[in-house]
Amino acid sequence: MHIVITGANRGIGAKLAADYTAAGHTVTGTARNTPGLATLDVTNKASHEAFAASITTPVDLLVCNAGVYPDKHEQLEGGYPPEMWAEAYATNVTGVFLTVQALLPRLEQAKTPKIAIISSQMASHTRAPGGSYIYRSSKAAVLNLSRNFAADFAPKGIAVGAYHPGWVRTDMGGAEGDIEVDQSAAGLMAEFDALSLATTGCFRTWDGRDHAY
Ligand SMILES: NC(=O)c1ccc[n+]([C@@H]2O[C@H](COP(=O)([O-])OP(=O)(O)OC[C@H]3O[C@@H](n4cnc5c(N)ncnc54)[C@H](OP(=O)(O)O)[C@@H]3O)[C@@H](O)[C@H]2O)c1
Repeated sequence: MHIVITGANRGIGAKLAADYTAAGHTVTGTARNTPGLATLDVTNKASHEAFAASITTPVDLLVCNAGVYPDKHEQLEGGYPPEMWAEAYATNVTGVFLTVQALLPRLEQAKTPKIAIISSQMASHTRAPGGSYIYRSSKAAVLNLSRNFAADFAPKGIAVGAYHPGWVRTDMGGAEGDIEVDQSAAGLMAEFDALSLATTGCFRTWDGRDHAY
C-alpha cells in the first residue's frame, strides 16, 4: 500500500510511519520542516498544492494525524484568546479538509482507498466533562467532517473513519498518559485495516470499540 501520514515527524504519526514502513508498505510521511520527510504545513493552501503535485502514485490510505492542543492549560477567565482558536481550527479542522481535498484525485485512483482521521475521545458530545474548549470543539468539528466525507465519498468507493488513539504518552498527551505510542499505533493499524465501505463513517477507539458521538 501507499500510505500518506501527516505529522509524521514525532508522536503517533512517527510511530505509524515507522511501523507501516517496517511492514513493507510505501510511506509518505509529512512534516512542516523535517529532512527526509515530505514538506506539508497543513494550515497552508500553497503547501498543500506543492505537496499534492509531488504525489504521483495512487494513495491507498491517508492518515490525517497532524494536530495541536494549545489550550490544555487555559483558564476560562481571561483565557482562550481568539488567536488560539484560529490556530487550532486551522490545523485540526481546516488542515484535515485541505489534506483530503488535495489528495482526493490520488485516493480515487486506488483500488480500496481509505481515509483515517485522528479525532479524540475529547470530541464526544456524550462524554463532555468541560474545559479545553478549543481542542474539544475542534476535534468534534473534524468528527463531523469525517461523517460528511463518508457520505460524499461512499459512491467513489472511499471509506472514511474517525479514531480516538488513546491517551498516549507523547508531547501532546504528556507523561501521565495511559498508553505508549507503540500500543496506540498497533491498535490504530488494526482499525484502519478493518475500515471498509461497510463501516464507513465510524468513530472507533484504538482498542477496538465504537466510541459514542
Ligand atoms: N496523545 C494523545 O493522548 C492524543 C489523544 C487523542 C487524540 N490525539 C491526536 O492524535 C494526533 C497526534 O497526536 P500526538 O500525541 O502524536 O501529538 P504530538 O506529539 O504533539 O505531534 C503532533 C504532530 O502534528 C504536527 N503538526 C502540528 N501542526 C501542524 C501543521 N500546521 N502542519 C503539519 N503538521 C503539524 C506536529 O508537527 P511539528 O513537530 O511541526 O509541530 C507533530 O508531527 C493529533 O491529531 C492529536 O490531536 C492525541
